[in-house]
Amino acid sequence: MSDIAPDGSPVLLYARLPSLGEAELIHEAVPPGCEILELGAGAGRITHALLALGHRVVAVDNSSAMLALIRGAGTIVADLETVDVGRRFPVVVLASNFINDRDPGTRRIYLATCARHVLPNGQVLLQGFPRDWTPSTEWSDLGDVRLRLRSFEQDGDRISGEMEYRVDGEQLFHIFESKLLSDDELDADLRAVGLRRQRTLDERGAWTEAVPQARS
Ligand SMILES: C[S@@+](CC[C@H](N)C(=O)[O-])C[C@H]1O[C@@H](n2cnc3c(N)ncnc32)[C@H](O)[C@@H]1O
Repeated sequence: MSDIAPDGSPVLLYARLPSLGEAELIHEAVPPGCEILELGAGAGRITHALLALGHRVVAVDNSSAMLALIRGAGTIVADLETVDVGRRFPVVVLASNFINDRDPGTRRIYLATCARHVLPNGQVLLQGFPRDWTPSTEWSDLGDVRLRLRSFEQDGDRISGEMEYRVDGEQLFHIFESKLLSDDELDADLRAVGLRRQRTLDERGAWTEAVPQARS
């Protein structure tokens, strides 16, 4: 039986999924060779690509099984809700749709973690569902992983479903419940923790750069 992270993420899956250009997008948006705090880093899918691009990374996750697969970065086993790394970073990355949590209080707790770890002139890079996200139940392939959305429900901006994965002969599942955020809702969440939207980093609107409100 594969290890499963506390949030239900299968470790084997995140060990096998390839990086999909996330690190290159981050690299384009930040100064060369900077130090990045990556929250919810998993098995290092994005971490390893950032290291290869010349950045230093401190990776935080509450799954020690995930972090055990990371090589070349600092790792901290901790909950994103409460982690205190004890210093600030020029860049904080929160990928993987944490900003799409259905509960605004929880979203703001994650964003507050970003805010208290970013330098006053630093950048917070956030990945959420793209604006044009549409469900597809077709099978597709990412590296060695076959995947599909096995079931799906939508009620307005509230979405839920079950992903099915085939990897190394194993069948893995992951249930998600999320909320598609409007720009106004994201702006309100950012404002609540002392951040503000600076720009969108990709055409599909999945990645947002936020900065401390006081930054010029
Ligand atoms: C969907 S995986 C994505 C991992 C990585 N960002 C990637 O894109 O490959 C989400 C990761 O966040 C971690 N995670 C989820 N909730 C967390 C929390 N509250 N505190 C710390 N880590 C958490 C999980 O253990 C998992 O490794």
